[in-house]
Amino acid sequence: MHGNDAAPGRGLWTSRLAFILAATGSAVGLGNVWRFPYVTGENGGGAFVLLYVVCVAAVGLPIMMAEVMLGRRARRNPIDAMRSLAEQEGRSPQWVWVGRMGMAAGFLILSFYSVIAGWILAYVFRMAGGVFHNAQDAETVGRVFTDLISDPERLLAWHTIFMVITVAIVARGVEHGLERAVRYLMPALFGILVLLFVYAATTPAFLEGVEFMFVPDFGKLSGQAVLEAMGMAFFSLSLGMGAIMVYGSYLPREASIARTCITVAAADTAVALLAGMVIFPIVFSNGLAPAQGPGLVFTTLPLAFAQMPLGTLVGTLFFILLVFAAVTSSISLLEPPVAWLLENGRMDRAKAAGICGFIAWVLGLGTIFSFNIWADYKWTLSLDFTRVQYVLFRDKTFFDIVDFLTANIMLPLGGLLIALFAAHLMRRESCEDELAMDGWHFNLWYFLLRYVAPVAVGLIFLNAIGVFGWVGGGGG
Ligand code: PHE
Repeated sequence: MHGNDAAPGRGLWTSRLAFILAATGSAVGLGNVWRFPYVTGENGGGAFVLLYVVCVAAVGLPIMMAEVMLGRRARRNPIDAMRSLAEQEGRSPQWVWVGRMGMAAGFLILSFYSVIAGWILAYVFRMAGGVFHNAQDAETVGRVFTDLISDPERLLAWHTIFMVITVAIVARGVEHGLERAVRYLMPALFGILVLLFVYAATTPAFLEGVEFMFVPDFGKLSGQAVLEAMGMAFFSLSLGMGAIMVYGSYLPREASIARTCITVAAADTAVALLAGMVIFPIVFSNGLAPAQGPGLVFTTLPLAFAQMPLGTLVGTLFFILLVFAAVTSSISLLEPPVAWLLENGRMDRAKAAGICGFIAWVLGLGTIFSFNIWADYKWTLSLDFTRVQYVLFRDKTFFDIVDFLTANIMLPLGGLLIALFAAHLMRRESCEDELAMDGWHFNLWYFLLRYVAPVAVGLIFLNAIGVFGWVGGGGG
């Protein structure tokens, strides 16, 4: 990033490509390789995947463009961006709450993201040490995973290491080294996923796995599953919490927002679908349960590497690349509050990064304990009225709750507010001016943002708590 048409003291990406790389780095991460497969498994496959893809295209993409647009127009961190845009458009200063809620979501997501990324780090060493070399059976592989997550001290150590890496990069400015990391390492990660896919195609239950992902069975779909699919789209595209907005605020004026966002969303979706096509054949070929939860990738991929030629080497490389993918996402979770502290002259970048990282690190302890000493603490939240009871969630651990509240509630709510602000409260000319798109392209985007996205998010929220008594309804 360097000077130019930015506000004084702010950086700018050197090109449109630099922004694409940064935004793809933010989007592609554990959400694609870890979260997407396990949440798909828990929600019955095909119908969930279809809804996810529809949410990405019809809700996620328009909101992503809106977020980049707001960021670039204001050239400020998300809180001050919302304040200054609301002022420019003659709206209430209360819109800063969109930025505030987004930052809160960022801390919460980073807190568990770092713990899971720590598992990946641990797996780099397990793979390299040949732990899985002769582990051809699901039981042995499963035991390695259970041993890891049941040891809070180990998890704490890996969580700490990952958080320190994230803080160190954000302290020096997110653009540092990011371009190279995304440009070469992401395609390498994709390449290994393709290799794994070739392996998966030779397993006995390949077709079963692919069918699980792509043949929809709407009978299996609950209201909560629809909510999860939407939440997955927001999480995977890094939407609704200001990460994409703050990256957009560093985007040069002449870059096309639409083309950029389509590239990012397409790359992100491709990685998620490919990861699913690798993991489900392995699940069914080894008689594993698709709905086993957050351990899914950790108990499937090592099996594949154990059976592949050069598996130890390829597997080690894969987990290393996945660490890079996680880092390029985690830095985007930390950047909004750091930019806010910095731009308000409170402290320098390094100190801001350290303090924000520390807060997320402390919150992360809750996630660590959810897999061992707190594993039996589960909460249910329901709204009880005289005639009806709306169940928001049932029997969830601390980690489950943080994950649920951020991905399924805070991000879609943030996205909804961004859509309402950009499409209903901002002047249409402001949008036209910033997006510089021609006729029907603009109209399509505007229609999706103005009507489709808000209505979809609203209906999915109400449906999930069982307001309509439609499919499945509450619970889950
Ligand atoms: N999109 C990232 C992933 O898939 C996670 C993320 C969510 C990053 C929200 C930033 C904001 O791993």
